Amino acid sequence: METKRSSFSGRIGFVLAAAGSAVGLGNIWRFPYLAAQYGGGIFLLVYILLSVTFGFSLMVAEIAIGRKTQKSPIDAFRALDKRFSFVGWLATIVPIIILPYYSVIGGWVTKYFVGFITGSAGDMANPNFGGTDVSYFGDYISSTESFFDLAEPMLWFFLFIGLTAVVVLLGVNKGVEKVSKFMMPALVVLIVFIVIYVLCTMDGALDGVVYYIKPDFSKFSVKTVVAAMGQLFYSMSLAMGIMITFGSYTKKDVSIEKSTKQIELFDTGIAFLAGLMIIPAVYAFSNGDEAALASKGPGLMFEALPRVFESMPLGWLIGAIFFIMVFFAALTSARSLMETIVAVFMDKLKLGRKTSCFLVLGISLVLGACSSLGYSAWGMVKILGLQFLDFFDFISNSFIMPIVALCTAIFVGFFLKPKTLVEEVELNGKFKFRVLFETVIKFVAPVCLVIILVSSVAGALGINLGFLNFLIV
Ligand code: TRP
Repeated sequence: METKRSSFSGRIGFVLAAAGSAVGLGNIWRFPYLAAQYGGGIFLLVYILLSVTFGFSLMVAEIAIGRKTQKSPIDAFRALDKRFSFVGWLATIVPIIILPYYSVIGGWVTKYFVGFITGSAGDMANPNFGGTDVSYFGDYISSTESFFDLAEPMLWFFLFIGLTAVVVLLGVNKGVEKVSKFMMPALVVLIVFIVIYVLCTMDGALDGVVYYIKPDFSKFSVKTVVAAMGQLFYSMSLAMGIMITFGSYTKKDVSIEKSTKQIELFDTGIAFLAGLMIIPAVYAFSNGDEAALASKGPGLMFEALPRVFESMPLGWLIGAIFFIMVFFAALTSARSLMETIVAVFMDKLKLGRKTSCFLVLGISLVLGACSSLGYSAWGMVKILGLQFLDFFDFISNSFIMPIVALCTAIFVGFFLKPKTLVEEVELNGKFKFRVLFETVIKFVAPVCLVIILVSSVAGALGINLGFLNFLIV
């Protein structure tokens, strides 16, 4: 990766590369189910507020650190202040945890694409698969009836991570980039088309839009903020060193402030559209039953969209096109995750590219297999009361990432001083939101992050906080 440093051509190149890596399953799969789970409009509002304050400041800080030091996250923190090099290490753990379970979901997406082209569209749309009250998706991820049932999700996961490893190993970045450059805009167009179709043809969908957009303040709780914050980290690839790496590749003439705004707009825009495509449809299917909508969880996209496609003329084809596009969005993100870990292993363990890639693959196969089996045969195995996949999601999004973000904010706010990064940003003209940046990094972020950490740790360990119990997630 070293050789690629400073290789973006101008701001557009940088924004597209960063947005290409940021846009993925987080936007299309994770955002809609969280919005559905945490009260629709209120989640959306909290998310947008956090993204323009907190997300903006953290992203500016990370990109500026990267560009200032021109180093990888671990070396960047060390170069700026030896005492904080642990933050770079901690940030590096996050992709190692995310990649395996990300690929399990990538495997689900691959399975659905193949399902659509091989004539299973009807089955996949069936909420009562095989005459039971279990949906096709529920049956697919949890069935232990036969060996094949048990192994199937794992095989798709192997295929997905195997493909990711092939892309990283062969370094066919150019090819993937070409495909994704075309796929990304096409995916946006397709999502807009599906949104219009859902809103125009389904009875009750418009009420679903109201649920999704209009904040209901009675549904607000600390949980909403914790979930929105975790999603913000995840979706914008923050608090894991990625934006530092991207920053280290940018030239001094690229405006950090403008780029950050564009990346955020892009990422949030796609997440918003994905929610608009899925939530009103499910709202309509469940006849406005908000509790049913909230309880869907990670299966939301996989259960809702096949039903939408089923009602469309040529729905199987549109479904296939949709899932192959999501597959590519997921593959580019997974590749980026894997590249990051491979680069660190090469650098710090002094391994060759191939060895390092196989090592990452090996670790991911083990952790991913646990995530996959956690929904079926190992359903009874719980860590902190969570299944494997949920545990990995929790430990990265609600624990390590807030710690990394907190340390980054404290480091920038009180040790490095925001002024140093402001100067970096101002190499390209006035920093318009400078006051916001300084206030958030110094005061707002540390306070919010401490609350979030206390809340998620106390919740996970079942600690009683007395009169502060309302904080617990
Ligand atoms: N942001 C990506 C998404 O929304 C997921 C992701 C998290 C990621 N961390 C990353 C992608 C690091 C690339 C690199 O799906």
